Amino acid sequence: MITCSTIDDARARMDAARCAKLSVGFVPTMGYLHAGHMGLIERAKSENDFVVASIFVNPLQFGKHEDLSRYPRGLDRDVQMLAAAGVDLLFAPGVTDMYPSAMRTVVDVPSLGGKLEGEVRPTHFAGVATVVCKLLNVIQPTTAYFGEKDYQQVIIIKAMVRDLALPVAIKAVKTVRDIDGLALSSRNTYLSEAERNAAVVIPQALSMAKHLVAAGMNSATTLERELRLFLEQEKLAKPEVVAVRDALTLRRVASLDLPVVVCLIVRFGQTCLLDNCVIGDPTLAIEGAVQ
Ligand code: PAF
Repeated sequence: MITCSTIDDARARMDAARCAKLSVGFVPTMGYLHAGHMGLIERAKSENDFVVASIFVNPLQFGKHEDLSRYPRGLDRDVQMLAAAGVDLLFAPGVTDMYPSAMRTVVDVPSLGGKLEGEVRPTHFAGVATVVCKLLNVIQPTTAYFGEKDYQQVIIIKAMVRDLALPVAIKAVKTVRDIDGLALSSRNTYLSEAERNAAVVIPQALSMAKHLVAAGMNSATTLERELRLFLEQEKLAKPEVVAVRDALTLRRVASLDLPVVVCLIVRFGQTCLLDNCVIGDPTLAIEGAVQ
């Protein structure tokens, strides 16, 4: 595996791959890799001739009081995992490689990024869209892969790619879960043992949502209220967002005409965990988004 840290070096390597007419799969990450990331790499490997991963903890997507400085990092271990998985190129820039001067340009999709997680993290999705747009410009992959756990992020990136006519396909890959159902996330490492045990309430709430809809519940407000009450029974859980939305537009819905997405953001101590499930045809939801 080749590792490079500057945009010029990455561009030169990618020019060579394109000259050789290789299809390129790209997996952008913030590092501290887990089985969820490796699932994205595996999918990219199975569908492309050449696989690129990036590791960059992007300051633009962290709010002033968020966890940028304590975000978990482990470059040596990440490099070993990516090399063992057969990644061809790792782009791991520093902050000054990626942003040599203050950014004057922002890519924002406010109609989608201001909702849900955007209500508690108002600058987050503009930071994500800006860095993803820049990474796509540097790597110019055939296909880029993102985890479905970050459902809103996928919808926003698809909208950005479509609006700006970026020549890349965006694919969402199924969430990888721990044995008790908790979605894998680099942030799970922040949890104390008690918080980690309590966090199982999130997948339990998602499974409860599916059962309630299957049993005939048809009011989004009632479903949100039931889920909040369920989450609040766990003393360590502080639900920040409990929302049932149209899975394609993230708009509020009254009745549960499918597909809808159930989005949960739940705080445990200092750590916010998010998860979601689509009720209805998930393929239709994520593939149909912003078409
Ligand atoms: O999902 C992430 O890890 C990040 O938001 C991403 C897409 C790598 C952009 O920094």
